[in-house]
Amino acid sequence: MEFHFLPTDFTQVNSGINRLMVHRAVDMLALKSDDRVLELFCGLGNFTLPLAQNAAEVVAVEGDAGLVARARENAKCNGIDNATFYTANLFEPLTHEPWLKHSFNKALLDPPRTGAIEVLEYLPKLGVQQILYISCYPGTLARDAGELVNRYGYKLKAAGVMDMFPHTAHVESIALFEKG
Ligand SMILES: C[S@@+](CC[C@H](N)C(=O)[O-])C[C@H]1O[C@@H](n2cnc3c(N)ncnc32)[C@H](O)[C@@H]1O
Repeated sequence: MEFHFLPTDFTQVNSGINRLMVHRAVDMLALKSDDRVLELFCGLGNFTLPLAQNAAEVVAVEGDAGLVARARENAKCNGIDNATFYTANLFEPLTHEPWLKHSFNKALLDPPRTGAIEVLEYLPKLGVQQILYISCYPGTLARDAGELVNRYGYKLKAAGVMDMFPHTAHVESIALFEKG
């Protein structure tokens, strides 16, 4: 995969760990050719394009319109035609978003440090059975894990940390949740 971006765009800071993380994400979601994946906080398509290579369809949502434009270009450049991108502020109440009218069996979330508590309620309503949550702040991942398990009935199946930010106190975390 080749990604084009601007100097001011969000990109993962550690390209070696990012490469491993994307492979790990695809493996953990055990993608199949009939999977429909919802990806929230998709940025310029870092996870979207590899997910789309292994699934029937990926619908990817991001708040920054410039990143969405770059994600669409990146999909085209890499020959990916089963990824659809939308711009939306995911921290505002969502009502008329076209992608909320579809169903998905898997989801990937990669929110900013503040976490993703605002969007969790949509996941069970859309039929999501497996959620892969990537986080750069374990505090909000722990909070949102509590909601997913205790409020929305998911089970925590696997979790780990990645040394994305060597020589700092920060880590990137990954956690897989499943229904039932
Ligand atoms: C940790 S980055 C992940 C980006 C992408 N998944 C990647 O691997 O490059 C978090 C993303 O959330 C987006 N974001 C932040 N606040 C948002 C909001 N309120 N609604 C939607 N997206 C938002 C940022 O623009 C950024 O692209």
